[in-house]
Amino acid sequence: MPTVSLLAASADVIAADAVVVGAVRAAGGARIAPGARAVEKAMGKRLAAALATLEVTGRPDEVVRIPTLGTAPFPLLVVTGLGDDPHDAESVRRGVGAALRTLTGHGHVRVAIDAPPGVIAEGALLGSYAFTAYKSAPDRRRLRRITVPGSGAGARREVAHARVVAGAVAAVRDLVNTPPNDLYPQSFAGRARSLAEAAGLAVEVLDERALRRGRFGGILGVGAGSARPPRLVRISYRPDRPRARVALVGKGITFDSGGLNLKTAKMEQMKSDMGGAAAMIASICAVAALKLPVEVVATVPMAENMPGGAAYRPSDILTFRNGRTVEVGDTDAEGRLILGDAIARAAEDGPDYLIEASTLTGAQVVALGPRVIGAMGEPAWRDAVVAAGNAAGEAVWAMPLPDDLRPGLDSPVADLVNVTGDRWGGMLVAGHFLADFVPAALPWVHLDIAGPAFNTKAPWGYTPKGGTGAGVRTVIAAVEHLAG
Ligand code: BES
Ligand code: MN
Ligand code: ZN
Repeated sequence: MPTVSLLAASADVIAADAVVVGAVRAAGGARIAPGARAVEKAMGKRLAAALATLEVTGRPDEVVRIPTLGTAPFPLLVVTGLGDDPHDAESVRRGVGAALRTLTGHGHVRVAIDAPPGVIAEGALLGSYAFTAYKSAPDRRRLRRITVPGSGAGARREVAHARVVAGAVAAVRDLVNTPPNDLYPQSFAGRARSLAEAAGLAVEVLDERALRRGRFGGILGVGAGSARPPRLVRISYRPDRPRARVALVGKGITFDSGGLNLKTAKMEQMKSDMGGAAAMIASICAVAALKLPVEVVATVPMAENMPGGAAYRPSDILTFRNGRTVEVGDTDAEGRLILGDAIARAAEDGPDYLIEASTLTGAQVVALGPRVIGAMGEPAWRDAVVAAGNAAGEAVWAMPLPDDLRPGLDSPVADLVNVTGDRWGGMLVAGHFLADFVPAALPWVHLDIAGPAFNTKAPWGYTPKGGTGAGVRTVIAAVEHLAG
């Protein structure tokens, strides 16, 4: 990650490899957003003329590059669209992020936009992410320093916070982007351990023998068809005098082939099926780095859903950690099976709140599109998490758990079945399934991040193609909300 330096907003000498300014949408063409005085001074009337020539509109994701040809102390000016409101924090994050996506080879980039330093730093760091681990000859030019306007202790605190958040998002993106031939339950557990130990956290990894001893029938059932056995990772952060105790649970399917109910579409996207697990691992590390006064325990089940000779079958009945029995109607509804066990285990600690995140259903993408997280659960806690996530810049929307959908999960032979006989309300049905494993008095929320976790389309704002880090900022913000 590049370093972030602060420079008083009033500084008018600008030396950098590139300078980013904002453009705001306005009647009769874009205007330059506040914060660019020094740039306007250096370039004079030429700047407005250049914007008119280039027909800059200021719409989001419009990024225009202008070489300064010796007229300014920086060789490249980048004008990024902020939309209608330059005071909206998320618009600034996205605009700055979109600009930084095009500048990953420029050593030093200065952002000249009048916005809180933490907002600019977060957008810039999120946008400057690149996944190069598998490139045999990665570009050696690299962004090393980002300068944002601001000064003083408050500004330094904001930037430090942005670094923690962006670092957590980048860690999730790296894990999701890592291909499933290298990221499988054992190696994923190893990466989780390294991240957690680096954050000073206690880690416990249950291997397949420990899972059998612990009667984790859901995790073992789903993992049975893979040559790579499942794991359950437990990470704990225990500060002195916590104000609340939160359990985090995330779906860690390192690859979802569908199992014997083999997928017939989009299987190549299913390396992202551990995005919820990665989000929880990174979030607990971030909560520790921020030293929040909230106790957090992450319970993360990891399995590969494959159709090998030992695979679980449609019509199998699995017995879970908490004694519940589940008839397998479809081996491709595997996430809820590993999560049932993990939620039951997490609840044994008696937490005050539960947050679970998973790439659980294609129905989420049908209902809300690829960018909006669906939130289900106990209404008050669900709404608190939605509000925290929205304030942090993630799109999260509350969804109901209609009573009439629950009987569809009744099984004639077991306590419940993992799918209903039709497609209706698939995201909500999955929420009902999870609810069965949550103790009655525990406030819980389920975040379905199936679409948002993995961007299959063009990059936008600070969001790259591939792993996005969806959910992390919502979880951190929800824990911060409890910290007060
Ligand atoms: N991992 C998938 C859900 C998914 C779909 C994630 C698209 C990301 C993008 C999940 O395990 C799954 O296969 N769900 C099934 C459930 C169905 C069998 C009830 C689905 O959504 O089709
Ligand atoms: Mn599946
Ligand atoms: Zn899945």
